[in-house]
Amino acid sequence: MNTEHDILRMRELEHLLDYHSHKYYVENNPEISDREFDELLRELQDLEAKYPNEADPNSPTKRVGSDLTTEFVSVEHRYPMMSLSNTYSSEELGEWIERITNDIGKVEFVVELKFDGTAISLTYENGALLRAVTRGDGRRGDDVTNNVRTIGSVPLKLRGEGYPTLFEIRGEIIMPYASFDRLNREREAAGEPLLANPRNAAAGTLKQQSSQVVAHRGLECTLYQLAGEELSFERHSESLEAARSWGFNISRHTAICRSRDEIEAFIEYWDSRRRELPYATDGIVIKVNSYAQQRTLGSTAKSPRWAVAYKFQAERALTKLLSVDFQVGRTGAVTPVANLEPVQLAGTVVRRASIHNADQIAALDIRIGDMVYVEKGGEIIPKITDVELSERKADSKPFEYITHCPECGSELVRVEGEAKHFCPNSKGCKPQIIGRIVHFVGRKAMDIEGLGGETIELLWESGLLSNIADIYALDSNKIAALPRLGAKSAANIQQGVNNSKDVPFERVLFALGIRFVGETTAKYIASHFRTLDAIMAATRQELAEAEEVGDKIAESIIEYFADPINRDIIERLRSYGLQFVAMERRQHSDVLNGKNVVISGKFIGRSRDDMKALVEAHGGRNIAAVSANVDFIVAGENMGPAKRQKAEKLGITILNEEEFFAMISAADKRSGAAAKEGITEGAEESAARGDIQESNTPQEVVQGSLF
Ligand code: IVH
Repeated sequence: MNTEHDILRMRELEHLLDYHSHKYYVENNPEISDREFDELLRELQDLEAKYPNEADPNSPTKRVGSDLTTEFVSVEHRYPMMSLSNTYSSEELGEWIERITNDIGKVEFVVELKFDGTAISLTYENGALLRAVTRGDGRRGDDVTNNVRTIGSVPLKLRGEGYPTLFEIRGEIIMPYASFDRLNREREAAGEPLLANPRNAAAGTLKQQSSQVVAHRGLECTLYQLAGEELSFERHSESLEAARSWGFNISRHTAICRSRDEIEAFIEYWDSRRRELPYATDGIVIKVNSYAQQRTLGSTAKSPRWAVAYKFQAERALTKLLSVDFQVGRTGAVTPVANLEPVQLAGTVVRRASIHNADQIAALDIRIGDMVYVEKGGEIIPKITDVELSERKADSKPFEYITHCPECGSELVRVEGEAKHFCPNSKGCKPQIIGRIVHFVGRKAMDIEGLGGETIELLWESGLLSNIADIYALDSNKIAALPRLGAKSAANIQQGVNNSKDVPFERVLFALGIRFVGETTAKYIASHFRTLDAIMAATRQELAEAEEVGDKIAESIIEYFADPINRDIIERLRSYGLQFVAMERRQHSDVLNGKNVVISGKFIGRSRDDMKALVEAHGGRNIAAVSANVDFIVAGENMGPAKRQKAEKLGITILNEEEFFAMISAADKRSGAAAKEGITEGAEESAARGDIQESNTPQEVVQGSLF
């Protein structure tokens, strides 16, 4: 085979694979088998390996993802990503429609499903996917292009014609129930915490560092809004149809409505049938169809006036409260959990519900034997939201909250201003001891394989383990002799324990389980102080001065290290060789060699310390104050006006976050560290379809067969 032929074949394969991806992921109508698809893909992968310079950055092989770690660079949205104002009742919706009609007269609306996922903005240039950015704070989001490329229903190259040279299209990344359930089954089997809902799962997946993982999570992308300067449509509905013709996945459950009654019929239809959809929806979005009218209506600071969301009522069920258990967590916090008569709710049988604290029990006057309403919110465990007083028994008695720990009998305490009761017996109360060890070995902490909750409990009961330091003194022979364990488990545990000695300092700090020091806070503290000794020696004020650490966290850290038992544990952990010092920062490039840099303001998704570390990693020197010696300033969100004025007076270049990243990522690339970082119709035909819509049956109107 000659080179020319191979390259032609590469282009052909790209085209074929794009075509079949669209058939499979967007049209749900595959023409070839998975196996045939994989064969074509393999052929293209082989050719790309042979001719790496010929590989298209948007090649279908990119959908497979890679295991290189992605760093998410923050990017400014060309057009801000706004949110929608919500309505919760027919009356509120009626008022909105009336306001709009009073303002601008007769209006045509487009009604769409409100997909419950995570918003995304895709930019296309010359028909190829250029960038995918999360919503972030609406002004700036994270560049997640590598991950989004793996989503089958996102076209990497557009089909058809008439698309602008440069435009953005917005939509939602969703995780269908089938993928969500599979993922949670896998997590359960691996002993990992379950994800609360498909929305969180989709958002979490998009931020995965390995695009290979994303590729296996079964995400989908549905689009609902176009933005750009060269768009020539008069109506939103036309833009959706055009986008469908270019290969985007546009929901068919979309309709044009011309009256409040039609909108209400659509809402009613989907409120009762949305459970039949393969993905989560939480309402209906109603948009003014005409772009001219949209412009007249304009926007408030947060949301457009030309669109509104109608939120579905969360599903709830009525059932009997049988009893209340009290769970004690690793911090000693007591949480009441309701035992219910089993009841069907949103596809699952509910037996338990959370009631957050004593105040909530008192506020709702919840009593044993009451008929209570349960709702599924964002969490896995549903919550009690109300009591049906009309069904209360005459002899029911107010609920009395416990005064003593159900596990160890200690008297509970309640700190002023805190909602929860606490068991103060942190060193002698079993769930607290076990909980701390379970937290320590967890995946995001020391990640010790082989040590799950049950094993820890067994080791504790056998007297082999009573605190986190004991983990490093475990005797394999003694473990192997325990029931249900054995030599293989013992070797496994030993291996996991040894491996954990390499876990970076920030995770060790998180693993200690200091109250209020979560995963992110631990990162900030580790990056600021660099060593455990420095943290232990810091005063309350020094701690509180570190980014993301307030008085409450500083107080908790002081308290933790003031405890002699904790200090003893720390010294033992040190002697076993755990990482108590942050790793040396890697030198990425020398692009900032000899440069004096001031980092100022707040940055999106990164601490100032991280920014400073990047300056050093690229050879630069961090300077605190603006002076004539400074080469440039990287300005974040709220750089002080005085500093800015001074810089301008001295003629010092001020870079924003994006410009700074462009500078260092170009250097990263040079130094080889790049890895880091439906129906085609014109307007006329569409208008003609608008006429046909009038004669559709109401059923067709509400189901959205119009698009
Ligand atoms: S339009 C300016 N259409 O809801 C409005 N949003 O609360 C642009 N969403 O951030 C959004 N389905 O993530 C629109 N059919 C739909 C939607 C939708 C879900 C989400 C979107 C947005 C949020 C607003």
